[in-house]
Amino acid sequence: MDLNALLQSMTMKEKIGQLTQCTAELFLQTDAAATGPREAIGLPKEMLPLVGSVLNFANAEEMCAIQRAHLEADRLKIPMLFMMDVIHGYRTIFPIPLAMGCSMDPSLMDDCSQMAAKEAAASGVHVTFTPMADQCRDARWGRIMETTGEDPLLNEWMGKAQVWGFQGTTRDNTDLRSPDTLAACVKHFAGYGAVEAGRDYNTVELSERTLRETHFPAYKACIDAGARMVMTSFSAVDGLPAVANPWLMKTVLKEEMGFDGVVISDYDAIRELTVHGVAADLKEAARLAFSNGCDIEMCSAAYALHLEALVNDGVLSEADIDNAVMRVLRLKEELGLFDDPYRAVDPQREDAVCTDPAHRVLAREAAEKTAVLLKNNGILPFSKEVKRVALIGPFAENHAILGFWSCRGREEESVTVRQGVEALLPYAEVTAVRGCGNTVGDVDRSGFDEAVKAASEADVVILCLGEPSHYSGEGNSRVDIALPGVQEALAEAVIEANPQTAVVLFNGRPLAVPRLKETAPAILEMWFPGSEGGSAAARLLFGEVNPSAKLAVTVPRCVGQCPISYRYASTGRPKTIAHGYQPFRSNYLDEEITPLWPFGYGLSYSRFVYESLRLETDTLRCGERLMVTLVLRNDSDREGTETVQAYIRDLHASVTRPTQQLMWFSKVTLPPHQRITLKIPVEESDLCFFDREMRYVAEAGTFELFVGYADHPVHAVQFRLE
Ligand code: GLC
Repeated sequence: MDLNALLQSMTMKEKIGQLTQCTAELFLQTDAAATGPREAIGLPKEMLPLVGSVLNFANAEEMCAIQRAHLEADRLKIPMLFMMDVIHGYRTIFPIPLAMGCSMDPSLMDDCSQMAAKEAAASGVHVTFTPMADQCRDARWGRIMETTGEDPLLNEWMGKAQVWGFQGTTRDNTDLRSPDTLAACVKHFAGYGAVEAGRDYNTVELSERTLRETHFPAYKACIDAGARMVMTSFSAVDGLPAVANPWLMKTVLKEEMGFDGVVISDYDAIRELTVHGVAADLKEAARLAFSNGCDIEMCSAAYALHLEALVNDGVLSEADIDNAVMRVLRLKEELGLFDDPYRAVDPQREDAVCTDPAHRVLAREAAEKTAVLLKNNGILPFSKEVKRVALIGPFAENHAILGFWSCRGREEESVTVRQGVEALLPYAEVTAVRGCGNTVGDVDRSGFDEAVKAASEADVVILCLGEPSHYSGEGNSRVDIALPGVQEALAEAVIEANPQTAVVLFNGRPLAVPRLKETAPAILEMWFPGSEGGSAAARLLFGEVNPSAKLAVTVPRCVGQCPISYRYASTGRPKTIAHGYQPFRSNYLDEEITPLWPFGYGLSYSRFVYESLRLETDTLRCGERLMVTLVLRNDSDREGTETVQAYIRDLHASVTRPTQQLMWFSKVTLPPHQRITLKIPVEESDLCFFDREMRYVAEAGTFELFVGYADHPVHAVQFRLE
């Protein structure tokens, strides 16, 4: 397709149509879920046939109907782009991104993204609003479930893996015409995960150094991995909402990061500039957003109503409009839409692709590799020979384990814990008692007696607790991150009745459960594990699978510690005692400063011994690589997988540095009683940071490297950078 000729033939209204995105409900009756306010956007009637892209449609049939009607009406037959939030699965749902982060397994992330792309492409999706590369240290924020955790390095890898998986890169396929690929849109640029008070859409107050060092790397990694689109954040950074922030959108995103793809606003974010109070009216909002590089306006009509007048008034140039439209047309061309506006969509194949049994196998594998064993006094794994199993709690038979962004996933198709246990233990007697609710304010304890009775009569008890999936996700922040209702009281009653009790948690954010940590014999964190959550939980609890995940996020003791992260600075008055209050030190009168469970922590049924850590030399010279040798042994009778983590500390620098930061990680599977020697490479680039003058440099000096997990070094070595 000669895009230049096409562009030249377009009227201004047709050009502006390419820069406007609406929901499918403007074109037909759909049951697709809303992902933003449903108010009418005020699109002029004559613009509807010219709209260039659609989001939130329900299936292949709807996509075909919208595309067909559009092509019939459109003078130039420019195909529409179809976009959707395929965040952690399309119809087959794998664990929420926060859980996927706990796998610390980019290849698993890539595989799951490929699976999601295949299902979504068959349903007519062209672009997914994924990866979400925001950094978050605050469990109050509902969208923490959508991050892959609090660490920039881990998020870089998990973000790249999603881009590669969706766009087919790792399958040696750089061609988005391939039917099993989607174009990836990295979001939300930038800094959205640091909303003040953990309250969604709130202001973000971050220094340039923190933005550059902690928040930008994952977005940049996704852009460098080839993401075709970037979505702006809702939040004001340094007083300017992202979509109208020239430093973010032009200086950083386009000039420094070199992004030359399509920029799309978040839902209604351009109109919301008038609500933020940085645009007097919709026309000013259109001018601000467009002049700062936002190409497509999602679900508001500022561009449709005012861009033409802004060009006619000489405020905006037609050349800039043409450049934005060309970026959109190029993406359509790259996806092959001009040759085939229906691309990979196939209403006949859609159901077969979306219900492919192989996808369920991968979803279960992902749920098994993302569950974190937080505590085990030895009762796990349960024996498969048990005769009576009691499942107790609001998640014992609950299909609502897909998570907030479950796209076209169907809860009724998910495997509950009860179904998972019964499938694994066909001869066991399995009883299920709800015992209590899982919502805030639910104080009903009338189910306790039945629960305690069931527990006392069982060989083993699986206590399935958590928060409803709509307690996390977009717009769903909480000021209390405890288990909702009376679930902890239920747990204490059940555990007292039968100490052979394992707690399984279903939640979208870290939960502050200090009493549970004290009283439960075992705790397995499942997060929202997706379509195969129940089968994965059963196989983990009864030892078919050995837990291998590590926390990708710090679990606070209480909400008062939020925001909290393992990458903390020393301060001038760090605590020097392990427990209790210390006057004139950085601590609390009424709570420890340590987390309930730290970043990088997770148990296994195997026992891994870090035998030794040795430097090949104690000096790293610029341009060279220093190797650190670790000997790891599996000191158990069970094969297991350990995620080896190496952390670095810069002992003295021109600005304060974190007391620890993840520098390297790798998953290692070891047969029983086997050992392995690992080589951990350290290069100057691993030691860089933004110095006092905001130069990204490594400074000569002494560094410490340790293996283990956050705040828990097993071995440490020191070396000098010269
Ligand atoms: C929502 C979300 C964004 C999503 C978009 C489209 O408001 O903030 O993450 O991709 O709208 O659904």
